[in-house]
Amino acid sequence: MKPNLLPFIPSKLFGVPQPTQLFTGKTILITGASTGLGLEAAFKFASLDAAKIILGVRNISKGNLAVRAIEDRTKRSGVAEFWELDMKSYASIQTFAKRAEGLERLDVVVLNAGVAPKNYTIGEEGWEAGAFDHCHLRSTSLA
Ligand SMILES: NC(=O)c1ccc[n+]([C@@H]2O[C@H](COP(=O)([O-])OP(=O)(O)OC[C@H]3O[C@@H](n4cnc5c(N)ncnc54)[C@H](OP(=O)(O)O)[C@@H]3O)[C@@H](O)[C@H]2O)c1
Repeated sequence: MKPNLLPFIPSKLFGVPQPTQLFTGKTILITGASTGLGLEAAFKFASLDAAKIILGVRNISKGNLAVRAIEDRTKRSGVAEFWELDMKSYASIQTFAKRAEGLERLDVVVLNAGVAPKNYTIGEEGWEAGAFDHCHLRSTSLA
């Protein structure tokens, strides 16, 4: 199959299309939301009027910074909160999932937390501690 790069050219020239559908009243949960694509997604959901955005983060100070950044950028206080989640620990994943079960509603889940380590390593539970384990096994387990 020949790669077709033509569809990417307009987005490089004019930027990617921005979503406009509102998320009014919706609860959104995003893992790996302390930085990068997860945090950008949180900004986007907040600007599209989501009622509640839960950031799954492993580092409390980064979680606080992320919540503050969302409030500052969108001028909406109280829209975001962070819950501790370390995807390296199945116990943490289970605690996080149990907490999510207590939510009144959950409309969108973005399972974004992930890593792409350069070297092959084995994690505490005996699985490869790489992208497959992190992005697929653990995110599927959380779902
Ligand atoms: N950017 C790309 O071009 C690209 C391409 C293909 C796939 N992806 C995938 O897209 C996702 C986001 O990418 P990104 O570029 O935004 O990556 P990033 O900037 O490195 O952010 C990854 C996020 O995942 C969190 N995370 C990592 N390990 C975690 C763990 N054990 N428990 C909880 N959170 C953890 C990080 O938290 P900390 O801040 O605490 O480190 C961070 O918030 C990743 O799954 C990545 O593999 C990205």
